Amino acid sequence: MCGIIGLLSEHRDVVPELLDGLKRLEYRGYDSIGVATLNPNGELERRRTEGKLAALSKLLHRKPLSGFIGLGHTRWATHGAPSEINAHPHATPEAAIVHNGIIENFQEIKTRLLTEGRCFETQTDSEVVVHLVSQKIRQGLEPLAAVRETLPLLEGAFALVFLFAYHHDLLIGARRGSPLAIGFGENEMAIGSDALAIGPICRQLIYLEDGDLAVIRPGSVKIIDQQGLSAVRPRRISSVASLDLGKSGYRHFMLKEIYEQPQVIGDTLNTMINPVTGRLSLPNLPELKRTNRLTIVACGTASFAALIGKYWIEKLARLPVDVEVGSEFRYRDPVLAPGQAALFISQSGETADTLGALRLCRKMGQGILSIVNVPESTIARESNVLLSTVAGPEFGVASTKTFTAQLTLLAALALVLATHRGHLSEQQETHLIRALMEVPAICAEILANTGPMEALARELLAPARDVLYIGRGLSYPLALEGALKLKEISYIHAEGYAAGELKHGPIALVDENVPVIVVAPTDHLFSKTASNLAEVNARGGRTIFIGDKDGLAKISNLAGSLILPKIDPFVIPLVYAIPIQLLAYYAAVTKGTDVDQPRNLAKSVTVE
Ligand code: AGP
Repeated sequence: MCGIIGLLSEHRDVVPELLDGLKRLEYRGYDSIGVATLNPNGELERRRTEGKLAALSKLLHRKPLSGFIGLGHTRWATHGAPSEINAHPHATPEAAIVHNGIIENFQEIKTRLLTEGRCFETQTDSEVVVHLVSQKIRQGLEPLAAVRETLPLLEGAFALVFLFAYHHDLLIGARRGSPLAIGFGENEMAIGSDALAIGPICRQLIYLEDGDLAVIRPGSVKIIDQQGLSAVRPRRISSVASLDLGKSGYRHFMLKEIYEQPQVIGDTLNTMINPVTGRLSLPNLPELKRTNRLTIVACGTASFAALIGKYWIEKLARLPVDVEVGSEFRYRDPVLAPGQAALFISQSGETADTLGALRLCRKMGQGILSIVNVPESTIARESNVLLSTVAGPEFGVASTKTFTAQLTLLAALALVLATHRGHLSEQQETHLIRALMEVPAICAEILANTGPMEALARELLAPARDVLYIGRGLSYPLALEGALKLKEISYIHAEGYAAGELKHGPIALVDENVPVIVVAPTDHLFSKTASNLAEVNARGGRTIFIGDKDGLAKISNLAGSLILPKIDPFVIPLVYAIPIQLLAYYAAVTKGTDVDQPRNLAKSVTVE
């Protein structure tokens, strides 16, 4: 996924604000970056480079660029290696574009254009767009007409912003599948991938719908929908303007966001618990209350939250739950009875695989619910029922606070369904709500003493080439999440397994070089997990125990241990997520990797 921004100002050089916008967008992709403006003569000028914003700032210091209108782009490469030449904006003498998405039929278009004599400079898919538009401008079409004739030729997903030579007062945006927001600032207009990009300079925002075309001029925007009709989209007040988008003194966004979790869990709970009755109150959720099966679809960390949700909902509400990863679900021709319900979990609300699954489920007559962190996102807007995590923007590519916020909502959902389906008494519900309400303080207590996690990560994980995580029951998805966290930010190979599965093959991996992290809180499965830990020890493995002091008293021969407060088993995932995240964080810091923007990754994958 990439970050795109366009600015049109009546009173100032837009390049500094383009750079600020790109800084806020870097979480979306950061392997190459660029800006384009019109010089006083109306000619297009660009500055592009491989690398991140710092590299672009250095380039601009050597070769300044200014203008009252411009584009910016920060890239996560799909077609064409990260390089200056493949960096956006792509341009011809007539136009420049920035693109987020994939033009799936770019090769056939490129082949045709090459035979027609067009010269390409990049290996990207995006470049075909600017050539198509330029060709039509050279045939005498005005910019808007050239764009309107170009878009139907494109297959795939795109958010595009166009800048035209000699048109100092025009930007055109087009949306199909990838988000685009338009902002109204003080004597300036903005367009960007999301509210974070343009929110701080715009008081009001509108979000384009799929198929929309936006013609932006000073102080105004004209929207044309996919039927070619003039459309009006609701204006929303930008909530981003007042947010602290910095690191607030933390070394990394990821660490800041890990420390925000007590607040985030508490805030999310407070949106669902009636302060007077102390009972949960969620939207009516008819889709959930009438269904006899729930399908949950998500990707990555969100899919592990989904798996924990399955365990909670099946155990408490006795409702069958299937958990699917989006990229597989949408292509395996699933069987779903109409009238059932499907829940989509996504931090960004833009993940293409999850969105594709949502649209398939809608076609199959499912009631559509979603848990997202960005209420204006596409998944949110295409759901019948939206359950918002109130985690605030998450800049670290590795999901942390949004994971525990998703879990908080899922725990509440399980309780509401269990009560509705008659499997939970008011007294039992009150007990479990109380356990949830204690989580923020417990997490804060753990965060007040992270020395043990840092030491274990530095001494046992950072030097390792392979790491295993194991757990049972609610700790099994935590093992999967722990492995993902470690590998995605420290680049250490790690695998998560159901502890009972180890003996069916993976235990062959165990030797003195492979740390095995055993997530073993005191619950009904503790003794079985303790046996699996002993099996690892018996083969010379080095085990790291994560549990409470009662459990520790029953375990021996450990290479390390993290002791957490004794808690109600219901809230294990919320509390044990904290050490899991911190082990990965400190291992990555020890290894010196780019914690917030790990190699090859992007915060939200809006391509398949
Ligand atoms: C997790 O740390 C990763 N950032 C990744 O697995 C992420 O959870 C996945 O891409 C899903 O993203 P989403 O929640 O925005 O849909």
